[in-house]
Amino acid sequence: MYNSKIIGLGKYVPENVVTNNDLSKLMDTNDAWIQERTGIKERRWIDKNSEDTSAVMGAKAARIAIERSGLTKDDIDFIVFATLSPDYYFPGCGVQIQDMLEMPTIGALDVRNQCSGFIYAVSVADQFIKTGMYKNILVIGAEYHSGGLDKTTRGRSVSVIFGDGAGAAVMSRAENTDHGILSSHLHSEGKYAKELIVEGPNIKHWVPQMLEENNPDDISYFPYMNGQHVFKHAVVRFSEAIMEGLAANKLEKEAIDMLIPHQANLRISQFIQKKFGLRDNQVFNNIQKYGNTTAASVIIALTEAWEAGKIKDNDLVVLAAFGSGFTWGSVVIRW
Ligand code: ACO
Repeated sequence: MYNSKIIGLGKYVPENVVTNNDLSKLMDTNDAWIQERTGIKERRWIDKNSEDTSAVMGAKAARIAIERSGLTKDDIDFIVFATLSPDYYFPGCGVQIQDMLEMPTIGALDVRNQCSGFIYAVSVADQFIKTGMYKNILVIGAEYHSGGLDKTTRGRSVSVIFGDGAGAAVMSRAENTDHGILSSHLHSEGKYAKELIVEGPNIKHWVPQMLEENNPDDISYFPYMNGQHVFKHAVVRFSEAIMEGLAANKLEKEAIDMLIPHQANLRISQFIQKKFGLRDNQVFNNIQKYGNTTAASVIIALTEAWEAGKIKDNDLVVLAAFGSGFTWGSVVIRW
């Protein structure tokens, strides 16, 4: 068995900054409510004149990650792309990356696990590298949320939270088996699928029917979230996933050098930080600037933490996420 490690990181966020005050011009909300409940000050939303999409942003982040890895696009053996906001219902964004980056006809897999998407994607790539099937894998998380949000007062409890962006990692076979991805743990609980969902269009409620009904009250194609229910489960599952990863590696919480939690809500991150007794410099948060970018959030945060010099060789880095599905999981890395 081989081991895998991250050898290149990149991120891309749209230029267009949308502040909480900007949102208060679109809907009945305000800076104080948003900051107090979520910690978010601003987010990036793709400008309507921009050509950015999830795949386009993913390709921009991927080019940076590949360049920083010291490899070329032709060295990449496989693509894993995580998103809940793909450019097309099908095919997925992975094949678009193969085309946009002019890669050879390598395989491309899309992961649809929402906020846990990047954790799942890293785990999938890790298994392929461990078995020796592939040597270098490009893993991307990207979201174009702003195109599909209800930006009226009706949708305010969801739409103020989400932002657009992308991140990418190049994962590669590691020669040193003490370093790299030490473990990944993945979970789901589908009985709560409808607590955080975009329900339509679905195969029973397809586009022609929606157009025919032309019902202005049909909000099935906007995200729905039972916020308090999700919050209560998130704090429990985040903790479990981190503990599970540490226990599998016979490590105590004191061993964590950097925790990168999915950026769902600053209050959730702060709760986890307190529960694990971590100092401010042991937890990285950037939700204040970007909001919740779902499958992109962990990889954007990991990239920014690394760019800021907050992750050094030999550090124990823990990634953890929880979200729609419900799905959750963790990845433990010896950097
Ligand atoms: N501005 C002003 N007021 C608002 C807004 C807004 N944007 N949104 C809701 N309100 C109002 C509500 O109408 C309600 O008013 P009422 O008391 O008069 O009825 C009040 O504020 C409280 O609303 P709640 O929804 O109860 O607010 P809550 O404290 O639960 O915060 C939040 C909402 C921020 C969404 C929180 O529940 C949360 O973060 N949940 C977890 C999110 C999460 O972890 N998601 C997982 C990842 S996402 C994914 O997987 C795609």
